Amino acid sequence: MKPDWAGDDLLSRLVNAAIGFKPLYALMKVGAKHVLQSTAEQNGVPWRATVRQLQNTPEIQEIRAELENPKVEYPDYYVQPFHAYEEGNLNWLAAFEVESATYSMALRTFPDQGLSPAQAQQRLRDGIHGALRDFQRRHSARALEDAVDIGCSAGVSSRFLAAEFPNAQVIGVDLSPHFLAVAEWRERTEPRPGRRRVRYRHAPMEATSLASGCADVVAASFVIHECRPGAIRALIAEARRLLRPCGVLLLADNNPRSKTIQNLPPALFTLMKSTEPWSDEYYQMDIEEAMREAGFLGVETAEADHRHRAVLGLAPS
Ligand SMILES: C[S@@+](CC[C@H](N)C(=O)[O-])C[C@H]1O[C@@H](n2cnc3c(N)ncnc32)[C@H](O)[C@@H]1O
Repeated sequence: MKPDWAGDDLLSRLVNAAIGFKPLYALMKVGAKHVLQSTAEQNGVPWRATVRQLQNTPEIQEIRAELENPKVEYPDYYVQPFHAYEEGNLNWLAAFEVESATYSMALRTFPDQGLSPAQAQQRLRDGIHGALRDFQRRHSARALEDAVDIGCSAGVSSRFLAAEFPNAQVIGVDLSPHFLAVAEWRERTEPRPGRRRVRYRHAPMEATSLASGCADVVAASFVIHECRPGAIRALIAEARRLLRPCGVLLLADNNPRSKTIQNLPPALFTLMKSTEPWSDEYYQMDIEEAMREAGFLGVETAEADHRHRAVLGLAPS
């Protein structure tokens, strides 16, 4: 079941028409950024200070040159304006703001509970990793030694995954060399004792060029609502290739069936739709079915929290 504000319903078409009107769209983009930034700063996320710090760290630009794979070809959908950035994810401002946006998103998930940004983020990840552990236990899935974090962005999800499974080797994959440079810089300058170092790779999720059968878990958190359906199917097929027998695919994202998502205030869903061009398609796509079609077994959906789901499936043995 999709929310009324997605798909072909009247409400959805009205919102889409408003977004299609360019001067209004320009205002919406500014509004979306303002909501994110002010929620973050009111709740203790140092949004602008972080941007300034990262802007004054030339080493990050050098790391980008090290990590960037010049042979990578960017799909069309990736080079469009996104999240209110004209160049989508391929720019420094997006890279310097994305961690703050991730912490802000967690705070908005658990509002009015007096949580710090770190506590809210931990709770968000606990919900996802709890669903993964429960699925692994019930399906006697493989112990987690190697994990691939698809769409790792600036590394927040990879670092939490590595902390949850401290003996695992986590590889973060993303298409933005700017985001990866921030992730790698954090890894170099803020080493976390007690867990293995995350490695980062610049590649499309559709064709990571990692070895077949290299992973016990392939995770993609908050990635698929940003991708067109064909790309989601390609990600699922690539995950199937990467997973060892009885390995687990975990797709965590907004839950179209959750009351919170269904009842989002109009201002919020309009802002969301105005900055995430593929969200309509995401809310209508049957992700479980796509995983079954790709050969995954025991496919099921767990509620990670009141607005996010974890869709899980097992690679055949
Ligand atoms: C919202 S972020 C995910 C954040 C992160 N996984 C987390 O949980 O905090 C989505 C990420 O997916 C990446 N992405 C989108 N399409 C991609 C593709 N085709 N291949 C690789 N990464 C992609 C974007 O660059 C972005 O960093």
